[in-house]
Amino acid sequence: MRVTVNRKAHFNAAHRLYNNDWTDARNNKVFGKCANPNYHGHNYELIVSVTGEIHPETGFVMDMKILKSLIRKEIEDQFDHKNLNEEVFEFSTLNPTAENISVVIWNKLRAKIDNNLELSITLYETPRNFVTYNGS
Ligand code: NI
Repeated sequence: MRVTVNRKAHFNAAHRLYNNDWTDARNNKVFGKCANPNYHGHNYELIVSVTGEIHPETGFVMDMKILKSLIRKEIEDQFDHKNLNEEVFEFSTLNPTAENISVVIWNKLRAKIDNNLELSITLYETPRNFVTYNGS
């Protein structure tokens, strides 16, 4: 009996989408306003989903207190109110698109969650635009 537990989290962050190998004109054409050299912000909504067997002794798939503090420490404390390009190591050479942010988040959490559990990330960059990543 495999069940998925989900935890919502939130962070505000600034970014700029830009490819250093391209001209300004090409960056502006592909990334539009997101290439603005002065950065812009988003209210990111994160859903972390963990799937596994229900533990017979606790009735839990995963202790949500542990998941909550893991997300706080590994993601919110690292990303909230940061300029992702300038202040988060992973994006020093990686374009901080929603796609790439979700992969970075997945990798950070995957390292801390029991290997018997499946992990999936849903990241909303706007209320209408969101991406999902499950490691495959
Ligand atoms: Ni943006």
